[in-house]
Amino acid sequence: MPADLPIEHDVSLQAFNTFGLEARARHYLRVTSDTQLEQLRADAAFEGVPRFVLGGGSNVLLTRDVEALVLHMAIRGREIVGEENGKVLVRAGAGEHWHGFVDYTLAQGLGGLENLSLIPGTVGAAPIQNIGAYGLETKDVFHSLTVFDMGNGVRRTLNAGECRFGYRDSVFKHADGVNLVVLDVTFALPRAWQPNLRYAELAQAVETAGFTAPTPRQVSDLVVAIRRRKLPDPAEIGNAGSFFKNPVVPPAACAALLARFPQLVHHVQPDGSEKLAAGWLIDQCGWKGKSLGAAGVYPKQALVLVNNGGATGAEVQALAHAIQRDVLERFGVELEPEPVFV
Ligand code: EPU
Repeated sequence: MPADLPIEHDVSLQAFNTFGLEARARHYLRVTSDTQLEQLRADAAFEGVPRFVLGGGSNVLLTRDVEALVLHMAIRGREIVGEENGKVLVRAGAGEHWHGFVDYTLAQGLGGLENLSLIPGTVGAAPIQNIGAYGLETKDVFHSLTVFDMGNGVRRTLNAGECRFGYRDSVFKHADGVNLVVLDVTFALPRAWQPNLRYAELAQAVETAGFTAPTPRQVSDLVVAIRRRKLPDPAEIGNAGSFFKNPVVPPAACAALLARFPQLVHHVQPDGSEKLAAGWLIDQCGWKGKSLGAAGVYPKQALVLVNNGGATGAEVQALAHAIQRDVLERFGVELEPEPVFV
């Protein structure tokens, strides 16, 4: 007979979301193994109780108390599990701290994840959000992952195609992925590593540092330095990284905007569509450094909303709406939030 699940009730989530917003969970379980999820399925007391999976809390906006059972993923472990087509396969538990995992791979002499250094959150959240930065996305270094299906109790492995990765998007954010809980993720890291310096700001930093043949660790250190310079540390100022996605528009819409706003920051995508810099659009509307109550726009990067101390989720939401309204009015572009609103 397995031990009872250590489910707690009326638990504060303030320490578990990087915005530092106060909200309480009706029920809370720190998930340290997949057998707990099996046990939960069999527990009649929790049949029909809604569930909410929480990772590092770096991509949620808690606007109210959570009337659900919060599954706080804390499955640990990281190991090299094999080699395939010149790639080293490295696996980590969903609850591993993302940057700690990047650091671990670098310490093993493996490059490939360095451009994703210092992104807040957990390993399990990386594929859900298809986290990306400095010219690299999770999908580019992804091998497979294991899920537990809360619907039918089956454990299975998904490959990249099955994860349906898109820009900050995956199957897990859609209806057919809602029952899937990520248990661990395997990455495929190249034996023959080359730096990925497609992103101009990073290429510039490598040049300024005088590195002609940088190591993965050196690239990681530069990414960390850029992020520290531009983005607030959630341990000091509550935030969830970029609050909005960079909007993707058809080429004709971009051309029409360029005719009116020649400074518009845009990047053509492989399919011909254009990705606009949401930070630039927000900045142009005069929001940088402005506040609404205790919620504010970070003075060094208009794409980041911050909790200036004691903000409520509703205040952050009101600020987000005001920004969306202004950007829509001025540019005719709709901004879509990155975090999940609860
Ligand atoms: N810009 C402004 N004003 C601002 C902010 C940005 O004019 O206040 C302009 C910049 O000058 C630049 C352009 O907008 O020309 C783009 O800015 P930046 O290079 O800082 O990148 P971003 O588009 O704001 C994206 C990701 C970040 C990722 C960086 C680096 C999204 C939504 N954001 O930001 O991801 O770290 O690129 O690759 O795709 C995240 O998702 O949480 C995140 C931080």
